[in-house]
Amino acid sequence: MKFLKLSIFLLSVILVKCEKFRFDNYTLYKIFPESEIQVKLLENLQNDIRFDFWTDPVPSAEFVLVMSSPADTNELVTFLETNNMKSEITMSNVQEHIDKQTVKQYTRSNVRSMTWDAYYTLDDIYAWLDDLVTAYPDIVTEIIGGGSYEGREIKGIKISHGSGKRIIFVEGGIHSREWISPSSVCYIISELLTSEDPETMVAARDYDWYIFPVTNPDGYIWTHESVRLSDKDSKNRRPFGSEFGVDLNRNWNNNWLVAGASANPATDTYAGPGPFSEPETRSLSNYISSIGDQIDLYLSFHSFSQMLLVPYGNTTEHLDNYYDVVNIGRRAMGALSVRYQTQYVTGNIAETIYHATGGSVDWVKGHLRVPLVYCYELRDRGAFGFLLPTYQILPNNEETMDSVLEIIHQAKRFGYMNSSAGLTGSIVMMFGLMLAYFL
Ligand SMILES: *[C@@H]1O[C@H](CO)[C@@H](O)[C@H](O)[C@H]1NC(C)=O
Ligand SMILES: *[C@@H]1O[C@H](CO)[C@@H](O)[C@H](O)[C@H]1NC(C)=O
Ligand SMILES: [Zn+2]
Repeated sequence: MKFLKLSIFLLSVILVKCEKFRFDNYTLYKIFPESEIQVKLLENLQNDIRFDFWTDPVPSAEFVLVMSSPADTNELVTFLETNNMKSEITMSNVQEHIDKQTVKQYTRSNVRSMTWDAYYTLDDIYAWLDDLVTAYPDIVTEIIGGGSYEGREIKGIKISHGSGKRIIFVEGGIHSREWISPSSVCYIISELLTSEDPETMVAARDYDWYIFPVTNPDGYIWTHESVRLSDKDSKNRRPFGSEFGVDLNRNWNNNWLVAGASANPATDTYAGPGPFSEPETRSLSNYISSIGDQIDLYLSFHSFSQMLLVPYGNTTEHLDNYYDVVNIGRRAMGALSVRYQTQYVTGNIAETIYHATGGSVDWVKGHLRVPLVYCYELRDRGAFGFLLPTYQILPNNEETMDSVLEIIHQAKRFGYMNSSAGLTGSIVMMFGLMLAYFL
């Protein structure tokens, strides 16, 4: 019953560092459940560890994406036929789509050589961050948000045009197989440093930006070097017997293990032995706490589904400043859609996807009381899912940046993020521009 898991485990032991696990002839099915009974049947199937569910069978789901190894495809097809479920094949050979996700090499000491037509390894992203510190010594400093189980740093940068400003905190890559997330976060960094768009420049100057592209470094390396995307490959790399990994976005100390999380290390939503049991979440949450009272806006990046999620995941109740947060978010998603007509859905986690707790955004909102907290589920809606092709990276990143700027713009209209330091900065800059104009 545990063929896929076992085979991946054995292979990963045998092939450590030698070869990547290949997904030749793995099939991705799009299944359309049409009744509660069918959703229930799919839920049961999800417990069968051989099949990797890319999306969860929840009552609101239009479809459910399930990946099968060639050895198990017959059984999946029989299951679908026996239960009269409609389905179609989205990918007949998953490996083909993995191969299309070009991973490019970053040219050291050339910060402009990171481009948006490829994905990058952890080493390259970290080297780029190092180089930014050298390239922008007055603005960029390196920050270490903590460490990982295997002893890697959670490395980020702070962009600051002068101390004492309110903070925008950005975090990506906590789920390692969601490669578009670190890419989007790197793009935000790049825009804040190089854009000549006035709105972007003001946003860069008015706030202190704390940005971490890869908060699960061990997992990210694992998806690059060993297994690109089995159902375990969003977690960290801590071993539990013959199992690996905690879902770091179920491990935060807010309603830990209450919903949408598992106590079984064999599952992809394993919440860990206790809240903040993992080095990654423990150290990063300590770091965030140390600046918590200065954070005005917190952004977390995931993929996929095209959703903008707000706290909380334990209830569909509209708690705290839900209406402001959702209103600001909807307007930002309007701005996101302008460039390429990409449509996002906005709402709280529980009402938009499903009840799920222990995520970073709920802890930041509930524990640190940060007023504006958002979790992006980036492109796409399931055509490629975790294997978003490289030609979509730039458009995804551009529209995402548009929306981040709009969140800031709308937040001010709704009476948020008007820190005095930020205001002073804007006024100084406006005077500067006027002066420049008259001279
Ligand atoms: C994948 O399927 C094709 C067509 O059925 C077959 O020719 C090929 O050998 C298979 N590849 C692997 C690695 O199993
Ligand atoms: C959900 O979590 C929030 C934040 O921790 C809490 O205030 C609220 O009471 C919880 N609601 C339910 C129904 O458990
Ligand atoms: Zn995720």
